[in-house]
Order: sequence, then structure tokens, then C-alpha cells
Amino acid sequence: MHHRCTVITMKLMLCKWICFVLLYTVNSAVTKQVISISKTGVGRNEYVLNHGEVNDSIVWGSFDDQIASTGWSHLEIHGNKTATSHDVAYYAGLLEGTLTAELIDKQYRNTLIGYCSNETDYCGKLSVFLERNLQFMSRTIGQMEDDPFWFQVSLYLDQLDGLRDGYKLSKFPSIPDVGFWYFQITGDLEDLEAALGNGNVKQPAVKSDSCSALIKVLPNNEDLYVGHDTWGEYQAMLRIYKLYDLPYATSASNSESVVGSIQAFSSYPGQLYSGDDFYEISSGLVTLETTNGNYNDELFQYINPHHVLEGIRTMVANRIASNGSEWCSQFSQYNSGTYNNQWMVVDYKQIKPGEELGSDTLWALEQLPDSIHHKDVTDVLKSQGYWASYNIPYFDDIFEKSGFAKLADQFGSFFTHAGSPRAKIFARDQDKITDLKSMIHLMRYNDFKHDPLSACNCTPPYSAENAVCARSDLNDVNGTYPFFFLSHRFHGGIDTKVTSYEMFHNKLGCIAISGPTHQQQPPFQWSTSGYSNIPDGHPDLWQFEPIKISWNL
Ligand SMILES: *[C@@H]1O[C@H](CO)[C@@H](O)[C@H](O)[C@H]1NC(C)=O
Ligand SMILES: *[C@@H]1O[C@H](CO)[C@@H](O)[C@H](O)[C@H]1NC(C)=O
Ligand SMILES: *[C@@H]1O[C@H](CO)[C@@H](O)[C@H](O)[C@H]1NC(C)=O
Ligand SMILES: *[C@@H]1O[C@H](CO)[C@@H](O)[C@H](O)[C@H]1NC(C)=O
Ligand SMILES: *[C@@H]1O[C@H](CO)[C@@H](O)[C@H](O)[C@H]1NC(C)=O
Repeated sequence: MHHRCTVITMKLMLCKWICFVLLYTVNSAVTKQVISISKTGVGRNEYVLNHGEVNDSIVWGSFDDQIASTGWSHLEIHGNKTATSHDVAYYAGLLEGTLTAELIDKQYRNTLIGYCSNETDYCGKLSVFLERNLQFMSRTIGQMEDDPFWFQVSLYLDQLDGLRDGYKLSKFPSIPDVGFWYFQITGDLEDLEAALGNGNVKQPAVKSDSCSALIKVLPNNEDLYVGHDTWGEYQAMLRIYKLYDLPYATSASNSESVVGSIQAFSSYPGQLYSGDDFYEISSGLVTLETTNGNYNDELFQYINPHHVLEGIRTMVANRIASNGSEWCSQFSQYNSGTYNNQWMVVDYKQIKPGEELGSDTLWALEQLPDSIHHKDVTDVLKSQGYWASYNIPYFDDIFEKSGFAKLADQFGSFFTHAGSPRAKIFARDQDKITDLKSMIHLMRYNDFKHDPLSACNCTPPYSAENAVCARSDLNDVNGTYPFFFLSHRFHGGIDTKVTSYEMFHNKLGCIAISGPTHQQQPPFQWSTSGYSNIPDGHPDLWQFEPIKISWNL
């Protein structure tokens, strides 16, 4: 399984990571594309694309597709500080659309192309909703460009225009404009389906359990690790790790750069935000979430187009906020009530190895339509030594209001904050973490056939969902499971990212692993999985090792 390692680093005892970093460096010379854009006049169409970096460019960046060997491609976009923010945003999008057009085309075909087939009623309502939402945003931007929040919203929209125009320059078939919207709102769609579709949308059950996160304080405060596993549909696994270095102004009248101008995050083709979500930001913050969802239909009445959808609010808060408290108040504005997550905001500025954690090291925020609860939870982190997040609300009011309390009455402790399988696995195993290797081990952990905490009232009597890194493809297609989450599906943990004090401070680096876990389980392989075909551009076999993510900063 590690034959390439043994050949290349026979004498290095330092295990597989190193060799993958080496392989990555060797390969990158072959595949890396570098492009810059310079202006030739003032109009949007007056520009040239240059191969390589040249002086006088407005944006420059590179794309490096290593998906076949590591499961990741890498995109870097840099903006010129002397240009206007609107120009930087638009051309940053255009550059990304140009560099990643092929993956955008494939991702669209793998995940979105059939989204509205046979859903005329819902999709009609959805397009009216999105149109009104865009009108609302454009109108408000016109009135409030001096407001930092709305100024950043406007830049997101500029970047999206650029992305679409950049893609259109490619040889790939056109994607309808609304498709570019769908990419930005894949998380929100789940709630829009429920709110606008009257419960009739074809996949109401795909209120998916998604993501595991762990923030771990090492003994004697030696380090603080932040780890995140995205859970999702396997069809979406065409991955891009992105760096946006976009020195936007704070507002139309304040040319000072935002504190969060540089963001490194795991992402996907066509998406201008992470979606996972896992961001490392130049402000010193790491922001991440796991999805709680909303199971209370009575809250749908608060979902309307006079808000800002979740991914945009996330990017805006990431850019503006310099601490957890400020992040929470920015993010809470114009709450759409869609993509209802438990957010965690870690402030690495409050941490010094070997010293007591400062106050405001960790903020938690939970959203529902019409309500948001947020709080400095550093004391919890200090007293427990960790904070774990696994799709169940932490705050009592959110737990009640979201419908989780009812689900717990009906289905038991799977739906409680203290009693769910992952709550117990994290609690049992977190103090075995002594270094990065053991942290990654827990983030990739899934021993569902043997771990008593993975057991369920099912036939067979366990579920691969009940683990830190789910592998629901390994559940029995003919099994019986008390509710949808536990059953067989092509869904599970699809990556892992872990950062530490040192990696964070070393240019927003991290360790990343693409694909479902194969730590205690066989690797996932499309051709033997029972799935009808191999999604476009996907490797067949997902057996990737950790790589080090680092950037040219
Ligand atoms: C860019 O400008 C620098 C400094 O003026 C110069 O040394 C360099 O050769 C220029 N590079 C290109 C590609 O024109
Ligand atoms: C940024 O823009 C300025 C002004 O147009 C230009 O002199 C400079 O070369 C640009 N920087 C890069 C890296 O292209
Ligand atoms: C749409 O409905 C038709 C007729 O019921 C069915 O044959 C087709 O597979 C459906 N398409 C999708 C994408 O669900
Ligand atoms: C957070 O940032 C805001 C804005 O810069 C500042 O007013 C506030 O005092 C900061 N809070 C803490 C706890 O540092
Ligand atoms: C599931 O049951 C069907 C019908 O009995 C059978 O044809 C199929 O082989 C079973 N699949 C597995 C993976 O056991």
C-alpha cells in the first residue's frame, strides 16, 4: 500500500507524509499552470491573460491538478493591492473560472446537472427566490456601500460574475447562470428544498448528517490542534484546496485592507467559499462548522429572500472579523436561516504554546431561521481539554427549537449532544492524542464492526455512520436500519484537515487527506462499490495519504 514511499524514502523513518510531499513537489512542475491578468483599458472586457506572472498585473495565480495522485488540486489567487477591490474581485473570479473550467464542468455534471429534473414546481419557486434575493442584495449594496458587511457582499457578487465569465471563455459546454448560483448555495439548498418544496422534493431525506470536528488542547497547553472531516456525498469528491490572497478594502470609503484578506480553505470547483467548512485566515482565526440542520417546519416561515445566504455571510465575516466575538456578530446579520450550522471560531492569537489559553480562544455559534446563539466557550475547551462537534446542537435553546429534542424522544440518544455515538467516541478517545499523528488517527477513525459505540438496533447490528469518519457505503444494502442516516448510501467522511499552532503560523498550512477513510477499512473504490459509474474525473480507487498543504506567501 505504501510502495511508493518505500522506494523513495527507504531510509527515512519519518513515514509516509514526507514522501507524499516529495511526490507532490516532483509532479507539480509538470502540471502547474500559472496565469496573470493585466488591464489594457478601464472596461471589464479590456484585459489580457498572460501565461506566467508578469509585472503590472491585477491578479495572478496558479492551478495544479494532483487529483490522480493525492486526491487534491491546488488553486492560488493573488490580487494587486493597488487596484480597486471591485476589479480585484471580478478578475480573481475570472482567473479561477479560466484555470478551473474543466473541473467546474465535471463537478456540475457529477452533482448538479439533474437537480431540477422533474422538480418544476420547487425549482420554479427556487428561481423566484434567488432572483428576489439577488435584487434585494443589489438594492441594499447600492444604499450601503460604506457598510463593511455590504461592501464585502458586493465583492462576492463581483467575483461570481468573474467566475462565470472566466468559465465561458473555456471550451467546455455552457452551464446556465443559475448553475453558478447553485454552486454557491449547495448547503442552503437543503433548507430551501424543505422550505419551498412543501416536503415534496425528491430527496427530502437527504437532510444529511455532515461533518465531524475536533479542537484539541494538548497536555500542558503545548499546542492546539484544529481538525475537520467533511461528510458528504461521494459524487462531490472532486477537490480543490484554495488560497485567496485578495487585499480588499474595508469599505467603499475606507481603503485599509480587511484583516482577513488571505484565506486558505478546502473547497470544490465553482464554489467561492469552502462549504466544508474549514478556513485558515490571515486575521489569526480558523473558522469551521458541522451542520445541525433544522427539523422544525414551523421555522420555515422565517426563510425569505430579504437575507443573505450562508456561504456569502461566511466569507464576509471571515474577511472582516479580527476575533470570535466580531465574527459572530458579522455572521449573524441578515441570517438566511438556511445551512444551519454549529460554527466554531478559533483565535490562534490567543494561544502561546505552554501558556494558559487566553479568553476568546473559542467561540461557538448556532443558527436557526430567526435565531442565532453565540458565546465564548473557551472555558469549556479549557475544562474538557477539547471541543467536539458532530451535527448536534450544543446550546439548549437551539436543541429544543431545531426539533432535535423531539427526534431524541422518538429515536433515542443518537440525537442527543452527550449521548450520540460520536460524542462518546470523542470523549473516550480524545486524551489519547499526543501528537499530530494520533490526532489524524482519531479524525480518520472508523472501526464500526468492532467498536461497541458504533452499534445500533440494526441488522447487521452496527452502522459505519457511527464513527468519526463515516463510511456509509459499507452499510448493508439489504440491512434494516431504524432511520435513514444509518443505512447504506454513497455518503461519509470525504476528507480530513488538521492544523496546529506551527502549521497555522507557517503560512496557513495544514495536513490534508482526500477521500473516505481507509484506516481500519478497505479503501473506497467506485468500480467495486455497486455504484452505476465512475463520476467524471474521479479516481476509481480512493486510497490517498496525508499531504502537507503550503502556500507561496
Ligand atoms: C518586473 O519588474 C522588476 C522590477 O522592476 C524587474 O526586475 C523584472 O524583470 C520585471 N519582470 C517582468 C517579467 O517584466
Ligand atoms: C500592481 O499594480 C501596480 C500598479 O499598476 C504595478 O506597478 C505592479 O507591478 C502590480 N504588481 C504586480 C505584482 O503585478
Ligand atoms: C423524471 O421522471 C421520469 C418519469 O417519471 C423518469 O423516467 C426519469 O428518470 C426522472 N428523471 C430524474 C432525473 O429523476
Ligand atoms: C474584537 O474586535 C472588535 C473589532 O475590532 C473589538 O471592538 C473588540 O474589542 C474585540 N474583542 C475582543 C474580545 O478582543
Ligand atoms: C440484496 O438482496 C437482493 C435481493 O434479495 C440480492 O439480489 C442482492 O444480491 C443482495 N445484495 C447484497 C449486497 O447482499
